[in-house]
Amino acid sequence: MKQDLISVDDLTLSDIQGWLALAAQVDGMPASEKVTRLRGRVLATLFFEPSTRTCLSFESAMYRLGGNVIGFSEIATTSVTKGESLRDTILTVEQYADAIVIRHPKEGSARLAAEISRIPVINAGDGTNQHPTQTLLDLYTLQKSYSRIDGLKIALAGDLKYSRTVHSLVQALIKFEGVAFTLVSPISLMLPEYLKAEIKARGLSCLETTDLREAALACDVVYMPRIQKERFPDLLDYEKVKDAYCIDIEMLAGVPDHLKIFHPLPRVNEIHPDVDGTPYAGYFGQVGNGVIMREAILLKLVGGMP
Ligand code: CP
Repeated sequence: MKQDLISVDDLTLSDIQGWLALAAQVDGMPASEKVTRLRGRVLATLFFEPSTRTCLSFESAMYRLGGNVIGFSEIATTSVTKGESLRDTILTVEQYADAIVIRHPKEGSARLAAEISRIPVINAGDGTNQHPTQTLLDLYTLQKSYSRIDGLKIALAGDLKYSRTVHSLVQALIKFEGVAFTLVSPISLMLPEYLKAEIKARGLSCLETTDLREAALACDVVYMPRIQKERFPDLLDYEKVKDAYCIDIEMLAGVPDHLKIFHPLPRVNEIHPDVDGTPYAGYFGQVGNGVIMREAILLKLVGGMP
């Protein structure tokens, strides 16, 4: 039976631990061993929204596993512009490929695609809802950096309202023991109430503040997505908050030596490039872990593991 990856909410802690263990196994595999695993298989990447990392890292992962990739990264070149429905697109692409990676601006679109498709569907981001493969690579990055996820003090900073990477990550972190959250955002971009309720229902610590430096001094991790300009109904509201937070070298004076800053990227102006050369910068290593986690996902869902 096919397996999809649509939402972190569908995963148990044991499922997540399984993904982390598989990623660690893949991390240790020689390239020569990987490259035969998905030979002859085809991955379809359907990107109805822009992407650099998610699209290219899935492509890189598939090629490193010996497979091939077809797909599109803008709808202008597809029959969607002629009015083709998502249903018909999926029913067509499943004739060409062994798995589908889909990014779409509408919440729930990946779930719909999975219900239609007879081949595995992987959600690469649906609107403001979920980005489960980003979450798995974020968790793998935390596990590699700290040798644990339980008990970490994590500041989520910036656009907590519209960032699907934050929404998915919160739903995963609450499954671990004793994670303590500090939520740092402008009032207009606070974490949705349903997610705060999920944190509280697990009895986890959850502080809210607008002071990013205070959070950086007190936490192990700062996770900082960009302000999601494209999700604002009114761009005037975006203009009011677009420069709300920027981490620079001065802000990092006196922070714990082990503090790591992560960012799903793309970065706009949230982290000054001067920070890149400091030991606190974890975001490009995080990008590299994206290929490993996506290799693991493809191996499991497309069938390259014994
Ligand atoms: N992190 C992430 O989803 O980046 P892209 O939008 O470039 O895929």
